[in-house]
Amino acid sequence: MRIGILGAGRMADALGTQWARAGHLLTVSGRDPEKAAALAERLGPSARAGTWAQAATSGEVVLLAVRDHAVPEVLAAAGAAEGTLRGRVLVDCTNPVVPGRLTLATEGGPSMAERVASAAVGSRVVKAFNLCHEDVWRMTPPVFDGVPLAVPLCGDDRDALATVRSLVEDLGCAAVEGGGLDRAGLLEATAAFMIGLWFGGADARATLPPLRFAQGDPDAAGS
Ligand SMILES: NC(=O)c1ccc[n+]([C@@H]2O[C@H](COP(=O)([O-])OP(=O)(O)OC[C@H]3O[C@@H](n4cnc5c(N)ncnc54)[C@H](OP(=O)(O)O)[C@@H]3O)[C@@H](O)[C@H]2O)c1
Repeated sequence: MRIGILGAGRMADALGTQWARAGHLLTVSGRDPEKAAALAERLGPSARAGTWAQAATSGEVVLLAVRDHAVPEVLAAAGAAEGTLRGRVLVDCTNPVVPGRLTLATEGGPSMAERVASAAVGSRVVKAFNLCHEDVWRMTPPVFDGVPLAVPLCGDDRDALATVRSLVEDLGCAAVEGGGLDRAGLLEATAAFMIGLWFGGADARATLPPLRFAQGDPDAAGS
C-alpha cells in the first residue's frame, strides 16, 4: 500500500516504522523539511520525504499525525479544500486534549475527526490509534497479558474501515468496530479521560470489568 503521512513527529515515526516494516511505501511530510527527510531516512528505502501536498496525494491512505491545533493549517497546506484527499482513506490519530486541564479542545462542537472530514473534502476519515502512547504503537507486537491490543475504529466507509483494519493488523493488534464517525468524539473523550487517570497514577485498564461482567454478574441468582 502507498501511505502518505502528514507529520514528522513521534506518531509518524512509530506508525511509519511499523508500516515500513510491513512493506508499505511511505511519503512523510512536516513543517520542517529536514525533520521529514531525517524521518524518511530512518524509515528506510521504502520511505521518502515530500511536501504536505505530495504526502496527501501519494497514496490511497493518509495518516494525519500533527498536533490538534495545527490540523486546520496542515490540511489547508495539503490542499484538502481543493480535494487532494478526495477518495483517500484519512486516518486521524489526533487527540484534541487541552494540556493541563485534560479536557477536550473541541468541547461543545464537532469532534476533531468530524472537523477533519469537513475540511478534507471527499476523504474517508477513520479515527484510530489515538488511545495509546507512541511507545505502545512501536511494540512488536503490542500484546498484554497474552491478549493483542484492541484498536477501536470509528468511520462511515466500510472499505476504508477494512483498509485501516489491515493496517492495525500489521502491528499485531486487533481492530474493534467502534461505530460511525459520529462516535469518534467518544473515542477522543475516552483518550482525554484515560490520560487523566494515567497522569493521576491510576491503572485505567483496571477501571472496566471483563466482557462477561459487562451486562451484570452472569453468576448472580436470577441473571
Ligand atoms: N505521542 C503519542 O503518544 C500520541 C498518542 C496518540 C495520539 N497522539 C496524537 O497524535 C498527534 C501527533 O502527536 P505526536 O506525538 O506525533 O506529536 P509531535 O511529536 O509533536 O509531532 C507533531 C507533528 O506536528 C507538527 N506540527 C506541530 N505544530 C505545527 C504547526 N503549527 N504547523 C504545522 N505542523 C505542526 C510537528 O512539527 P515539528 O516537528 O516541526 O514541531 C510534527 O511534525 C497529536 O494530535 C497527538 O495528540 C499522540
